[in-house]
Amino acid sequence: MRLQGRRAVVTGGASGIGRATALRLVDEGAEVWIGDIDRDAGEEIAETSNGRIHFRHTDVTDEAAIAALLAAADAAGGLDIVFNNAGAGGARERIDEIAAADWDRTQSLLLRSVALGIRHAAPLMAKRGGGAIVNTSSVSALGSGYAPIAYSTAKAGVLHLTKLAAAELARHRIRVNAVVPGFITTNIFTRDLETSEEKRQMANQAIAGIAAKAQPVQRAGRPEDIAAAVAYLASDDAAFVTGTHILVDGGMTIGTRASWDESEPSLFTALDAFK
Ligand SMILES: NC(=O)c1ccc[n+]([C@@H]2O[C@H](COP(=O)([O-])OP(=O)(O)OC[C@H]3O[C@@H](n4cnc5c(N)ncnc54)[C@H](O)[C@@H]3O)[C@@H](O)[C@H]2O)c1
Repeated sequence: MRLQGRRAVVTGGASGIGRATALRLVDEGAEVWIGDIDRDAGEEIAETSNGRIHFRHTDVTDEAAIAALLAAADAAGGLDIVFNNAGAGGARERIDEIAAADWDRTQSLLLRSVALGIRHAAPLMAKRGGGAIVNTSSVSALGSGYAPIAYSTAKAGVLHLTKLAAAELARHRIRVNAVVPGFITTNIFTRDLETSEEKRQMANQAIAGIAAKAQPVQRAGRPEDIAAAVAYLASDDAAFVTGTHILVDGGMTIGTRASWDESEPSLFTALDAFK
């Protein structure tokens, strides 16, 4: 019960990583305000939470909506924890094809939203003597090949924003950290797919199969894996941790696939043929 009596805001809490984190924070004693555009899923979680989770319809591209969500948690006794997590895949086009409006829309959803979440949480936390902010980045912040360029650039921005905000807000005893998920099986990959529900389910199953073999730890990444890292960063166990990130990727970014997957061709297996 590391978070007993704390009040937390979780954006994107109606599904996937946000949902698992809201449940984990409640398990550790917190009361949680979820902000999400998915009203049905958000209300359902709130209804089954014994009053520990509250849902507020919130579009994180809307500054006033973010501020109102944070104010709701603050009004209940003070804001302690914010998890800036809402997101989606964003524009998929390559850099030589993308439209400016699609670039802007993706940055607004994935980077501007996090900046504004910090912007409006900080004064509320400062007035009560501190708090903990956690932001969702991605392994796509670290290199190419994980996600489209607009998304990946925004997620890299989240890492830098995390560091600089931690420096600026340390004077208020506010810690700012990020979590960097690898391949986590959630609805994010098929949410925007224009297809039937049946095909969406088939796609989700195919993704689960790929996810299990995508990294050295040979199982699919779960939302709960990320929730555990967020709960730590939000807690006093991380009281001396700020301006950094926790990579939770099952080893996906350790190195080349050939370094951990014996079935992957490598220079060394190629040379074996000449022995
Ligand atoms: N799943 C992965 O492999 C993975 C990897 C790295 C990072 N992430 C990041 O994790 C975060 C959560 O994603 P997830 O995988 O749980 O996906 P998800 O689709 O299961 O959940 C995302 C939630 O965000 C909400 N959302 C989308 N746009 C919103 C908006 N404008 N305002 C408010 N809520 C909005 C959705 O309704 C949904 O409930 C995202 O920031 C995502 O980029 C995911």
